[in-house]
Amino acid sequence: MSIQKVGVVGCGLMGSGIAQVCAAAGYETTVSEVDEKLVQAGIEKIGAQLTRSVEKGKLSEAQRQTILGKLHGTTRLADLGGCDLVIEAATENLEAKKKIFAELDSRLPKHGILASNTSSLTIVALAAATQRPDRVVGLHFFNPVPVMKLVEVVRTILTSDAAFATSRDFAASLGKEVVEAKDTTGFVVNRLLVPYMLDAIRCYEQGVASKEDLDRGMKLGCGYPMGPFELLDFVGLDTTLYIAEIMFDEFREPRFAPPSLLRRMVTAGLLGRKSGRGFYDYR
Ligand code: CAA
Repeated sequence: MSIQKVGVVGCGLMGSGIAQVCAAAGYETTVSEVDEKLVQAGIEKIGAQLTRSVEKGKLSEAQRQTILGKLHGTTRLADLGGCDLVIEAATENLEAKKKIFAELDSRLPKHGILASNTSSLTIVALAAATQRPDRVVGLHFFNPVPVMKLVEVVRTILTSDAAFATSRDFAASLGKEVVEAKDTTGFVVNRLLVPYMLDAIRCYEQGVASKEDLDRGMKLGCGYPMGPFELLDFVGLDTTLYIAEIMFDEFREPRFAPPSLLRRMVTAGLLGRKSGRGFYDYR
C-alpha cells in the first residue's frame, strides 16, 4: 500500500518535528491541534526551523516554500479523514489518546493506518480502541525529530505484516533509520535510556560526583553528545518521571523506580529547559 496523505495529531515539540519531516519528504501533511493558536504556533515553529536551514545553505528558498506548501493545519480531527496514515503525537494520556484513536478510526478510509508516537504507553491499548487493530502501530520518533536519525517501528500482537511493512517503509522514506520493536513499555531506546538517566540521578544523590562531572564523564568517556543531566533537562524532568512511572508499573524492577530527587524537582516546577531550570539554569 502506498502512502500519499499523512495526518499528524498534535503540533507541539514532537508533532511539529514529525509534520516537518513528512512534508519535507513530499507527503501532503495535515497537522491538527486543539485550537487555532496552537496550529499557528506549530506551523510558525516549522517555518522558523526551515528558515534556519535556508540561512545555513542546507535548503533553497524554493524548497522551503515547497515544504510549507505541503503543510496544512486544522483544529478538526475530521479533516484527517482522507489520510492514508495518521501519526498521533498528542499529550501522553491514555484516555485522551484512546478517544483520538476511536474518532480517527471512524474517519479514516478502510486501508488507513493509525500510528502513535507514544514513548511509553502500550500500543495495543490504542489498537483496542479501534475497529482496525491490525492497522495500528507505533512510530516513535526522537527529539529533535529533524535531526535524530531513528524511528522505532512497533508492532503489537495484533498488527498485520502488511501494515507493519508499510509503516516501516514509510519511516525509511522520511530518511530515517528503523529499528523494529515489540510492544513492550519503552520499546528499545527508553528501555535502556530511562534506567541510565535514573541511575545518573541516584549517583548524584549518593555523591558519586558532581552533576557536571557525571555529564563530562559520559560525554568524554563514551562520546555521548549530552551527559545524562543535560539530556534529562532536554527531554524534560516531568516527561522522564511520567515514563519511569509507567515502566516501573509494568516491570516492577527497582531500576525503573523514579528517584526521590526527580519527584521533588518536578513538584517544584524544575522541569528542565522548558521551564528555564532543571539540573541546570537556562534563565
Ligand atoms: N530542532 C531542530 N534542529 C536542531 C535542534 C532542534 N531542537 N537542535 C539542534 N538542531 C540542529 C542544529 O540546527 C544543527 O543542524 P546543522 O548540523 O544542520 O547545523 C544540528 O542539530 C546540531 O546542533 P548544534 O550544533 O546546535 O548542537 P549540537 O551539536 O550540540 O547538537 C543535539 C544538538 C542534536 C540536540 C545533540 O546535542 C544531541 O544529539 N543530543 C542528544 C539528543 C537525544 O538524545 N535525543 C533523544 C532524546 S530521548 C527521546 O526523544 C525519546 C523519548 O521518548 C524521551
